[in-house]
Amino acid sequence: MRYVMKGGNPLAGEVTISGAKNAALGILAAAIMSDETVTIENLPDVRDVAVLLDAFREIGVLVDRVDRHTVKLNGGNIFTACADNPSIRKIRAGYYLLGALLGKYHHAEVAMPGGCNIGTRPIDQHLKGFRLLGAVHENNNSRVILDAKDLHGAHIYLDMASVGATINLMLAASLARGTTIIENAAKEPHIVDVANMLNSMGAKIKGAGMDVIRITGVEKLHGTEYTIIPDQIEAGTFMMAAAVTKGDVTVKRIIPQHMDAISAKLLEMGCEVIEQGDSIRVVGRPTLYSCNVKTLPYPGFPTDMQPQMGVALCLAEGVGTITESIFENRFKYVDELSKMGADTEVKGSIAIFKGSGPLKGAELVAPDLRAGAALVLAGLAAEGITVVDQVDYVLRGYEDFDKKLQGLGAEIRLAETDEDVKKIKFQIS
Ligand code: EPZ
Repeated sequence: MRYVMKGGNPLAGEVTISGAKNAALGILAAAIMSDETVTIENLPDVRDVAVLLDAFREIGVLVDRVDRHTVKLNGGNIFTACADNPSIRKIRAGYYLLGALLGKYHHAEVAMPGGCNIGTRPIDQHLKGFRLLGAVHENNNSRVILDAKDLHGAHIYLDMASVGATINLMLAASLARGTTIIENAAKEPHIVDVANMLNSMGAKIKGAGMDVIRITGVEKLHGTEYTIIPDQIEAGTFMMAAAVTKGDVTVKRIIPQHMDAISAKLLEMGCEVIEQGDSIRVVGRPTLYSCNVKTLPYPGFPTDMQPQMGVALCLAEGVGTITESIFENRFKYVDELSKMGADTEVKGSIAIFKGSGPLKGAELVAPDLRAGAALVLAGLAAEGITVVDQVDYVLRGYEDFDKKLQGLGAEIRLAETDEDVKKIKFQIS
């Protein structure tokens, strides 16, 4: 699949942000830990969610997609604690089945996690935590197998503030005997959302959103109705789209506080950023100014916004840098930006953007989800036509990305075949 676009239109108008993908994946896993029905609202309609729901069906979860953004799940008929199929291997969040099934059945067998190739992405911290909770771990046929005779509370210190490990351990510890303490926990908004959701099912989790989380295990979790928070990264991507196209975009139905690091950088770069209740309006200016950015765990600047920021720095006046401190392989998009005429250089974990001015349309390949979205922003800011290939990555995490951009005045279409690409290029040029 490819996106074909013609750049140059300043994006303008309002866009409504969907539910947070990375919260949804943890929340869906939490939902199957109850034998009662759980209703989840504001579910983003993205591929990763669809893949996880398919994996649920295969192990016996009743999945009722009430409408595009609402699902009812019932985990009362699960008949196996083994989740392994080709699609679950493609997504990262399959690993949440480890925590959910281990907590509920004291046994879990799950295909090794896939996901975007942005670094080695080990899961040693998840496994260390599960072992401390009493599970024995082995790898077999590239599956992770966990088994616990007695799942009990433990004191767990994470070597790094891992989002996945924090969520996975909250899941398992919610049904463990006794109290678990997770130190150096991740603090991302979706950690808090998953904890709130588990608490609404009867779990006893305190401190989510802080460094130390305390979980008192309960016997079982009950049904609930829960609404997922808005997607911080989708919102940030549209805010950046306003900046790079010198547009005027209001992102609606968000939690502005989650956007603080991104808003601060946009202000520093000379944009106007106006908070209005549950919306933020970003007004791009004729000149963007460079800045230096370092990705950090929340509340720092999110690694998932790093490529979008890279595009803005290509268009800004002066030299700007990005230091990537979370993943070691997240600069692959920089080579693609060079094809558009950007003057950039990567030195280890630092990318340098020499503010080369206008970008030129080019044929690009999306290396991963967020980089794919960033290349689309580059194409919309560039002169002429840009084609971004492998946008299946983007569909994994952005709902209706092309349609939402079209709603803001972008000339962008999704193409499946070479013929489609030719036709679209002819129509928009
Ligand atoms: C989550 O990945 C997100 N994925 C990522 O979203 C996001 O980039 C990342 O958190 C950071 O915010 C999902 O929520 C499904 P981590 P995760 O564990 O959980 C190292 C997107 O585009 N680490 O916080 O895999 C790890 O290698 C994406 O939506 C270990 O060494 O990230 C990385 O360097 C991609 N051992 C750092 O910690 C472990 O056991 C942070 O990883 C776990 C992590």
